[in-house]
Amino acid sequence: MKSKLGPQRIMFPLPTVLVVTGNMEKANIVTIAWISMLTGSPPTLGISVGSRGHSAELIKKNKDFSVNLASSNIMTEADFCGITSGTDTDKFSESGLSKMPSELISSPIIKECPINIECSLKDIQMNGKTYQFVGEILQTHVDEDKLGSDREPGSLDIMAVDPLIYYSGVREYWRLGEKVGDAYQIGKKLKK
Ligand SMILES: Cc1cc2nc3c(=O)[nH]c(=O)nc-3n(C[C@H](O)[C@H](O)[C@H](O)COP(=O)(O)O)c2cc1C
Repeated sequence: MKSKLGPQRIMFPLPTVLVVTGNMEKANIVTIAWISMLTGSPPTLGISVGSRGHSAELIKKNKDFSVNLASSNIMTEADFCGITSGTDTDKFSESGLSKMPSELISSPIIKECPINIECSLKDIQMNGKTYQFVGEILQTHVDEDKLGSDREPGSLDIMAVDPLIYYSGVREYWRLGEKVGDAYQIGKKLKK
């Protein structure tokens, strides 16, 4: 048997990212869970940003943003950036998170986040009261100490990255458990 939850309960786990827009002098951070890779070539991702917050207007004006993956050790700071607004809060100074210059965009990246993605704004769509910003990925940075040694070059030690998982249906934060299999491989067991 299955229970019907209706269309508006989004129950699946999502990564927690911190989206930064602005420049090294003045930048805002917004916590975002509604994020997805969109295309591999060109590399693009999409973020959904409510029009009521401060960030949507800033992203439209600034035309670039960085996406910074939150680890569980900055859970409190990530939550803070999701319950305060850049209209009246300098989230960098109040959270203690540190700005670092990006290589190719004006928006800074966050030093404490293990993965930082520089995006230029490629497209904007509006669905209801929510903007979908499409970012073209121009550069990705990772902490050297989070690189995995035993796999292909550039792969990450995912347990060291320790992504902060947002379980949206019940508004809880979780961590990863353990590796259970190899994608695109394990399913071959069922091939006839
Ligand atoms: C865990 C978490 C995930 C969130 N995900 C989103 C999201 O995907 N899109 C969005 O518009 N707001 C999301 N929010 C809410 C914004 O972060 C929040 O409205 C924030 O205060 C807006 O800040 P700003 O006014 O500086 O833009 C999330 C908040 C939390 C705590």
